[in-house]
Amino acid sequence: MPDSWTFAVARDDLGRTTLTEGTTPALTDGEALLRVDRVGLTANNITYAVLGDSMRYWQFFPPGPRGLGPQWGLPPLWGFAEVVESTVAGVPAGQRVYGYLPPAGHLVVRPDRVDAAGFRDASGHRADLPSPYNGYRSTTGDPAYREDQEDLLVLFRPLFFTSFMLADRVVDHDFHGAAALVLSSASSKTAYAAAFELHGRGPRLVGLTSPGNLAFTRSLGCYDDVLTYDDIDALDAVPTVYLDLSGAPSTRAALRARLGDLLVRDVAVGLTTQIPNADAAGEVFFAPVQIRKRRQDWGRDGLDRRFAEAWQRFAGVVGDWLDVRVDAGPDALRRAWSETLAGRTPPRVGQIVRL
Ligand SMILES: NC(=O)c1ccc[n+]([C@@H]2O[C@H](COP(=O)([O-])OP(=O)(O)OC[C@H]3O[C@@H](n4cnc5c(N)ncnc54)[C@H](OP(=O)(O)O)[C@@H]3O)[C@@H](O)[C@H]2O)c1
Repeated sequence: MPDSWTFAVARDDLGRTTLTEGTTPALTDGEALLRVDRVGLTANNITYAVLGDSMRYWQFFPPGPRGLGPQWGLPPLWGFAEVVESTVAGVPAGQRVYGYLPPAGHLVVRPDRVDAAGFRDASGHRADLPSPYNGYRSTTGDPAYREDQEDLLVLFRPLFFTSFMLADRVVDHDFHGAAALVLSSASSKTAYAAAFELHGRGPRLVGLTSPGNLAFTRSLGCYDDVLTYDDIDALDAVPTVYLDLSGAPSTRAALRARLGDLLVRDVAVGLTTQIPNADAAGEVFFAPVQIRKRRQDWGRDGLDRRFAEAWQRFAGVVGDWLDVRVDAGPDALRRAWSETLAGRTPPRVGQIVRL
């Protein structure tokens, strides 16, 4: 009898989706079974799919073992899961973990480096993939965890970690000597969390957004100024760093036309418009690279402590910027995917799906 399910999207058409039924996988020695419990959906998950081939995001959760052909991809999600069965010491049934999860009922992991903080999935197909995606944090060994903030963690943990690391990198480089930092898709969680981290630290912070999101983005108070994409000519002609989260070629072209050589850095961070921007920008920011650097500089505990402090500061304000919407079940996940793909989720909404 089917007792598990898998949601997948067509790799060549992210709007075409399927929901299949299957049976809960049986474990072999060294494995544990996670039940996916609570996940979030934001533009970031769409980016994983857009870059599924080039950045290998499709490789985390292969469709084959779930009875799906290679034309399908499982877009990775972030959230909480529960260990429901385990053959591994130190990973007991009932343990609750945060990590990278498939859009499916279950995930089989091969826990390694097990300690009080959690474990890593050492499954062979994940061995060469960026390591920050392979860690599962136990709720009991995580300085950033608070039970009453679970939904904030589901939605923001990877995004805020990115924002925190992006801000850290820009500060570490003395803002590249810029007098202004311009962020596109300023209404996105990753952008406004970075602005929150950078506000008041030196350069003027300017957000660019679409007309419908202007009032929301201004209301946050973490940008010195917010303009629409059509208003780029109103930017001050001063040395500027561009942190691009939208990926829109027209915005990049307008900034270059307005600022010329005053555009001292052009950094691809995200692509909410679903247009890959790595080649068009001067450089690419990939959070795992800066995470690796700071793990070396500060140690894992030092990085965890700094992150937890920054996270608690942010968590103290972001609740007022967000309406968490909780839907339930695989069909709701499918609907949330379509809505997020189409850009129909208002920036104030934080979409959670309970599974
Ligand atoms: N480099 C890294 O390591 C890293 C890590 C984390 C996230 N990111 C990237 O940062 C970006 C933002 O992610 P997020 O999860 O924070 O986003 P989010 O909160 O879901 O942001 C939604 C915003 O993105 C824009 N948008 C959404 N859908 C769109 C569509 N279909 N067409 C055009 N614009 C659309 C709109 O902003 P505006 O109206 O303001 O444009 C919207 O308010 C993603 O591309 C994500 O992958 C990068």
